[in-house]
Amino acid sequence: MMDKITVSAPGKLMLLGEHAVVYGYPCIVSAVDNYLSVKGEVIDSAYDQYNIGETNDDFIETAVDTVRKKYHIDNKVILTTTSELTGYGLGSSAAVTVATIKLLDEFFDIGLRGEDLFNLSYKCIRKHQPLASGYDIASAIYGGTIYFDGRTKKVKRLSDQSLKLIIGFSGIKADTVDMVRKVSDLNEKNPDITKNIFISISTLVKNAEAAIINKDWKLLGKLMNQNQELLVKLGVSSPKLDEMVKSAVTAGAYGAKISGAGGGDCIIALIEKSQKEKIEKAIINTGGEILHLDVGNPMGVCLS
Ligand code: PMV
Repeated sequence: MMDKITVSAPGKLMLLGEHAVVYGYPCIVSAVDNYLSVKGEVIDSAYDQYNIGETNDDFIETAVDTVRKKYHIDNKVILTTTSELTGYGLGSSAAVTVATIKLLDEFFDIGLRGEDLFNLSYKCIRKHQPLASGYDIASAIYGGTIYFDGRTKKVKRLSDQSLKLIIGFSGIKADTVDMVRKVSDLNEKNPDITKNIFISISTLVKNAEAAIINKDWKLLGKLMNQNQELLVKLGVSSPKLDEMVKSAVTAGAYGAKISGAGGGDCIIALIEKSQKEKIEKAIINTGGEILHLDVGNPMGVCLS
């Protein structure tokens, strides 16, 4: 058994398909080059020890307990996390879950394959967020830009190239559980309306898959704008996010939209490189903070 190991998993940004993916439709997600790392050591003690800073301890405990029960592991561990993801809605819960399970897999020679890692991590996440689609888990495992099928949970790798995206943080922390519940309430009251929206979103996602493969950024931007209109109809945008999105498009972005649950966190704007400064300024003028991240290129969970 190794002495100490560190495992890192990347954060993510949803490119298209949020909310619809909860109902079994597809989405497209990219990894970002901000990571969450878990360092582990086996200790001779009656208890586990977690040094987790701002990371959500519930998720790490759930991951350890789940692996321990399933694989009958008695050894205790010290786990220490460092996170570049916390606070921006970049997927820290998924990243800490995936990194912790991967670390235990390496320590105790469990032999998990990608699919096993997904299933186990997804089981853990659903203990806290029963409606979660698992797209963020898939992104933390595989990295790059992937097409994620919300029904089968199958992943298709679309690209490992950086995407020219500007990320604007709204300064407000989104409450994913609350936003998912809001859409679920609408779905119960008006299933015909939501079904039409979800189907339209899934068509955009399928067209976006081709646009990414063909590097047709103009088309991808247009599809992002259409996705944003549908998210507004679902009621998950906000005046602040609307303003940030509008400012980016007016300043020349190919397209812009919220990324993730909505209500807060980040917007993404697809741009041509020459327009970068102008669009960043426009977003800053609305009160947004620019996050400088490489999107789409980072690899998935790995030993570091
Ligand atoms: O929590 P976020 O910001 O990564 O966004 C969640 C995306 C949803 O589609 C709304 C929920 C899900 O689990 O897919």
